Amino acid sequence: MTKSLWWLCLVSALVLPSPGLSAPGSPLAATPPMGWNDWYQYGCKVTDAIVRANALAMVQSGMKAVGYTYVNIDDCWQGQRDAEGFIHPNKRFPDMKALGNYIHSLGLKFGIYSSPGPKTCAGYEGSYGHEKQDAETYARWGVDLVKYDWCSASKVYSPDQMRAAYRKMYEAILSTGRPMVFSLCQYGLEAVWRWGASVGGNMWRTTDDIGGGYDRVSLFGFQQNGLGKFAGPGHWNDPDILQIGLGRLNYNEELTQMSLWCLLAAPLLAGNDLTHMTEATREILTNPEVIAVDQDPKGIEGHRVWQEGPLEIWAKPLIHHSVAVGLFNRSLSPLPMTVHFKQVGMPETVRVRDLWARKDLGTFHHTFSAEVPSHGVVLVKLQ
Ligand code: GLA
Repeated sequence: MTKSLWWLCLVSALVLPSPGLSAPGSPLAATPPMGWNDWYQYGCKVTDAIVRANALAMVQSGMKAVGYTYVNIDDCWQGQRDAEGFIHPNKRFPDMKALGNYIHSLGLKFGIYSSPGPKTCAGYEGSYGHEKQDAETYARWGVDLVKYDWCSASKVYSPDQMRAAYRKMYEAILSTGRPMVFSLCQYGLEAVWRWGASVGGNMWRTTDDIGGGYDRVSLFGFQQNGLGKFAGPGHWNDPDILQIGLGRLNYNEELTQMSLWCLLAAPLLAGNDLTHMTEATREILTNPEVIAVDQDPKGIEGHRVWQEGPLEIWAKPLIHHSVAVGLFNRSLSPLPMTVHFKQVGMPETVRVRDLWARKDLGTFHHTFSAEVPSHGVVLVKLQ
């Protein structure tokens, strides 16, 4: 290799964006993306009016103020392709660009959904063979996030072509020049956490669809242990949308999901009707001290430090030498639990703050104990 060629290689390696990482200086998904997704509440009945109403409610409910930003349309918005192959929305979405403008006018960001296959999971038009055109269309509409759902891609690609299929859309997005969070959805197949970032993923689903009650939420949430080393600023494990406010979880179970998702540094996508939520749901979704655990700038995913049957203790290191600790009781009766500060790498004397109650509990030596409700959690910050 000549000297000038060597220099050229070195300079391009330093200057060109590397797949999986945000462009230098770009804050794309620097902390886990927060927002809303229509799928669990509305499914294929979603409309432009529903999306607008929820976007407005995201502002009016105080969710925007604590960090919720992305308004994501899931499956079922697609209509037909025109003679040149460009995708158009169906009649439930008369004007996507106008919808994007409205979302942006509220200071929020606009998310959309497609599939690397010919059809989406609900049988609508996918991006197969039209990746570049679709990315251009999304850029024209002002899209800020693309959820890319495997679905019928299994009919046209073999599992070993999955990475290339995702990279293809990533490159199409990159070539538009518009930053879009790239959200991989293939249900955790092929250990996606090991390669999701290398194909441009800013987040990737680690699990199948969570839709359900405490059994699903606890199964999916607690099985995330061990995946933390693959996540960090710009690329996150995604155990799926929050089930809070959908009528599937009781109060303590909702606290469990929110606490666990925040300890996991998971994307926080509300899945409920934001225009009609109870005050309890609103408070669970918007507790700023709990959200600060999720959004901690260090971006370290928490992990399980102790387990005894249905009792689990999880910890997440935070900035300023503090640690968030969740004491979870998966059993059917309330039980006392104790965390030893040594278990979470803290000194023998620490200050303890209850994050749900937003209350200082005082200074403790060696241990902190609490009665934890059935299917519930006590979430504290140790400083
Ligand atoms: C799959 C995904 C869901 C949702 C539906 C839409 O099941 O995992 O999150 O997007 O498709 O059809």
